[in-house]
Amino acid sequence: MTADRSAPPGAAGTDRPSRRDLIASAGLGAVALNNVARPAQAQQSSASAARAFPPGFLWGTATSSYQIEGAWNVDGKGESIWDRFAHTPGKIQNGDTGDVAVDHYHRYKADVQLMRALGAGAYRFSLSWPRIFPDGVGAPNPAGLDFYDRLTDELLANGIAPFATLYHWDLPQALEDRGGWESRDTAQAFADYAGHAGAKLSDRIGHFFTINEISTFVDLGYVTGIFAPGLKLPPARLNQVRHHAVLAHGLAVQSIRASARPGTKVGPAENVAAVVPAVETSENIDAAERAMRELNAGILTVMLEGRYTDAFLAAAGADAPKFSAGDLKAIASPLDFVGINVYMPTYVRATATPPGYAVVPPARSHPRMASSWQVFGPESLYWAPRHLHKIWNVKEIYISENGCGAADQPAADGIVYDSDRVMFLRGYLAMLQRATADGVPVRGYFLWSLLDNFEWTSGYGTRFGLIHVDFATQTRTPKLSAAYYSEAIRRNALP
Ligand code: FCB
Repeated sequence: MTADRSAPPGAAGTDRPSRRDLIASAGLGAVALNNVARPAQAQQSSASAARAFPPGFLWGTATSSYQIEGAWNVDGKGESIWDRFAHTPGKIQNGDTGDVAVDHYHRYKADVQLMRALGAGAYRFSLSWPRIFPDGVGAPNPAGLDFYDRLTDELLANGIAPFATLYHWDLPQALEDRGGWESRDTAQAFADYAGHAGAKLSDRIGHFFTINEISTFVDLGYVTGIFAPGLKLPPARLNQVRHHAVLAHGLAVQSIRASARPGTKVGPAENVAAVVPAVETSENIDAAERAMRELNAGILTVMLEGRYTDAFLAAAGADAPKFSAGDLKAIASPLDFVGINVYMPTYVRATATPPGYAVVPPARSHPRMASSWQVFGPESLYWAPRHLHKIWNVKEIYISENGCGAADQPAADGIVYDSDRVMFLRGYLAMLQRATADGVPVRGYFLWSLLDNFEWTSGYGTRFGLIHVDFATQTRTPKLSAAYYSEAIRRNALP
């Protein structure tokens, strides 16, 4: 089946069914979005027009395979490193696993209706590599790809543009057994899998993200060991792992170009250090631009410039990754867009001495969201995309993730009134709107996450969803933040 991708099906401003239809078809019943305390329809004043996003801006939500699908061993799926890690006692809070997760594998049709009820025009999900190649390489498992075929068709039938991530951390265990990301062969295996996925799905999927957050899975999986595969590598081996991951990204870009339908777009989804000038002076802004290149040198900068910066190589010294000129060329394969996951700021100030910037640590009393790592800093959603545009002239930017965890508790009426998440979204989206108003080419935004889900080492203890999930019954209930987000989508402006 082919679909016209020239205008993404869900772009804001295109004809869509009314919200009432959507809620009815979603079967949300007593807990429909309209039942959540919702302000009376605001009149579009000139002040609110000034808070508008560009026409055609894509509003989406994001998830990943291991965090939502469940069905960990059905229909021929192979074991992933997260299956193995979660099944190892003591690794995950409360002994939780993704074996069932939120059972999206079986409930995907109802979940697409939830997206539709929000009014979302796009959805970022990830393909489980071991579902498609149970051994990582070799013969594909057609039943694995079938699931993503069905999901893609369901999204398109509901006017939602599919954006697929090829790797969101669930490496086939068979590849880990052969050295995992420490082996260069894994980069080639990833490129082969990417080519297969591109060939099979690009008739309907127009955008592929290569790898989700290299920085996170490398640092947490191979330094602290709190993520799968749970290793604590010395610096030289760690730098080689990171190099293989950026190489895998570049080789996958080439495979997609070779195998996917012409016009298919591809780019990374990286958790950049989102550098913010602590005070907006021209000196601090220059310092922030310098810091943006250096603090992202091992991943985004090498992807966009085709070289590791001198400071990066000097700091690594004898532990620097081993690479060839050919590797750098592959890593810097031209991209169609850059996706960035932005959760928190890195504040910097200018210094008179090299490197010309200093990181300003957040004050001890600086506000944080429910996860202790998540410093509240809405300006990050202005500065990170602005830097991409200014420093590297990136012409198409997606916010591939943004959101926050919260200590969500349903009230007596069954609704989660997550005023903290609403505050978070209002602050961050205001700064994103500032970026688009300044001409920064941000084309879309994917809120993490559609549903509460398996939050890695925290198991089911930290909730990031717009939709509350009762993990015992799998009942889905939109939170107050779902009503807020839905209103932003409806207006294509900041509510
Ligand atoms: C990001 C991950 C995503 C989720 C959110 C909270 O770093 O990409 O899977 O865990 O954080």
